[in-house]
Amino acid sequence: MKLTEATEKDIPLIQDLARRSWESAYAGIISREQIEYMLENMYSEEEISNHLQNPDYHYYLISDEGNNSFEGFIGYENNYETGTTKLHRIYLVPESKGKGFGKEALSFLKDKVFESGNNRIILNVNKENSAKKFYESQGYRVYNEVVLDIGGNFVMDDYLMEYVFHK
Ligand SMILES: CC(C)(COP(=O)(O)OP(=O)(O)OC[C@H]1O[C@@H](n2cnc3c(N)ncnc32)[C@H](O)[C@@H]1OP(=O)(O)O)[C@@H](O)C(=O)NCCC(=O)NCCS
Repeated sequence: MKLTEATEKDIPLIQDLARRSWESAYAGIISREQIEYMLENMYSEEEISNHLQNPDYHYYLISDEGNNSFEGFIGYENNYETGTTKLHRIYLVPESKGKGFGKEALSFLKDKVFESGNNRIILNVNKENSAKKFYESQGYRVYNEVVLDIGGNFVMDDYLMEYVFHK
């Protein structure tokens, strides 16, 4: 598995990987309409381009060195809160789940966050997404929950999770 920092030219690739991952991961959790709405808003060219222009926001593409293909990505933002990095997105295509890529990506993220001087990682996970168990297996814990109005008559019903670095 390899992680490569993404740039503007990778926006269509990120959009494609997000769609492939979301259509499988969120089927049965949120409606088809909500998946479309969120992909259109959160993964528009403009939105991703804005992220890439933010010096604290980084995208890394996850590739499988075995078959030379891109299989997913992570997107995170240092200093989202004081001393805290937010993991905004971690998505693998369904065929590449369960091979240890997610675990490796979180380990890489920890190194990057440590280098940045932050000492805490936070994220949102849908209450019905089994990814919560993945994060728990990597030392994250739920510290709160939230129902966020995202417009379009849709809400995100999430757990807030954190990983705190030991001193
Ligand atoms: C969640 C995701 C990033 C995890 O990555 P992954 O490569 O599939 O997970 P790994 O193979 O690295 O698994 C690491 C550990 O987590 C556990 N785990 C992974 N996914 C799990 C799940 N859905 N339920 C329970 N445990 C899970 C594994 O059993 C493994 O445990 P171990 O270390 O004790 O063997 C990936 O499955 C994915 O992209 N899912 C769809 C999109 C998604 O839901 N993203 C998160 C949005 S908040």
